[in-house]
Amino acid sequence: MTGSLSAPAGAAHATILGFGSYRASRLIPNAEIVDAIDSSDEWIQQRSGIKTRRWASEDETVQSMSVGASRKAIESAGIDVAQVDAIVVATVSHMFQTPAVATAIAYELGTDRPAAFDISAACAGFCHGVALASDMVRGGSAKHVLVIGVERLSDLTDVGDRGTAFIFSDGAGAAVVGPSDEPGIGPVVWGSDGEQFDLIRQREDWRDVIVAENPRMPHLVMQGNPVFRWAAFEMAKVAQQTLDRTGISADDLDVFVPHQANMRIIDAMARSMKLPEHVRIARDIADQGNASAASIPLALDRMIAEGEARSGDLALLIAFGAGLAYAAQVVRVP
Ligand code: UT7
Repeated sequence: MTGSLSAPAGAAHATILGFGSYRASRLIPNAEIVDAIDSSDEWIQQRSGIKTRRWASEDETVQSMSVGASRKAIESAGIDVAQVDAIVVATVSHMFQTPAVATAIAYELGTDRPAAFDISAACAGFCHGVALASDMVRGGSAKHVLVIGVERLSDLTDVGDRGTAFIFSDGAGAAVVGPSDEPGIGPVVWGSDGEQFDLIRQREDWRDVIVAENPRMPHLVMQGNPVFRWAAFEMAKVAQQTLDRTGISADDLDVFVPHQANMRIIDAMARSMKLPEHVRIARDIADQGNASAASIPLALDRMIAEGEARSGDLALLIAFGAGLAYAAQVVRVP
């Protein structure tokens, strides 16, 4: 054996230094979408907790919403954009298979040629990104990582599909992960169940689209009820495992930020985890809808803005969706 490789030296710990979000501007109430799916405002509110959802206007793109959220996150982290040396974008609605939208976001932000790549873990994407960023900072491959969760799911939504038309939404959330003296991001608990790959997916792949007689967008389709049952039962167990691995109990939590998929899933998880009264629970879904990879940072950033989550608070994040893929971790609110 000749030569020896130098080992990268990372930070002792990683933490979230700042958050930012961007909400798509069009507010679409249930009344506006019910006729096309033979539904009612009452049914949608009862079954999902959604009253209105945010859809993007023409000029609000995956890239522009990401840049809007990122500028706020970088400012709140108190760093200069040139200090961002890696950008991880979690999304399923960037319409180019390649190149990654992360590179275009980096360019528009004016960073100094950082590593930039996209990841695909659907609704669990942001928590996957935070876990990667934490490991990158501690492993020495980056000092400051910008993690973005962004979706423009209105592009992938069939407004005539009863199972999905009322659910999905648009927006972006971002976090800057950087070095710290104390741990600010706990161990991730993540996994997947590919046996249930078909429960949420695009209706067809792009090759089927182009050979079809009447080509149409490969919209998202979902078998809602099995996903609902899986999420309500299995994810409460994952939440508990996350607390155990972090070495804390539900009593130590200040904030609970589950993926904003359905208000009934949020309530069911809080019940099975026996969350104490003092834990404040994110309920952003009511007027945002389900923004997939953007849902957790949008929800947490709103709680910070409204004073429901305060600096130093411990927040449990848990995200789940297509794949089925999931990821959870406890973070300290910056
Ligand atoms: O973000 C990724 C992860 N996604 C999730 O976690 C979503 C999980 N799933 C859900 O949130 C729920 O399954 C939905 C909100 C999508 C649906 O609620 P549900 O309680 O599972 O309803 P269901 O699909 O079992 O349907 C119940 C009834 C059916 O009628 P019958 O058979 O009981 O007569 C449906 O035909 O509701 C009917 N239905 C509707 N009625 C009015 C289904 N969709 C609609 C609709 N409007 N849009």
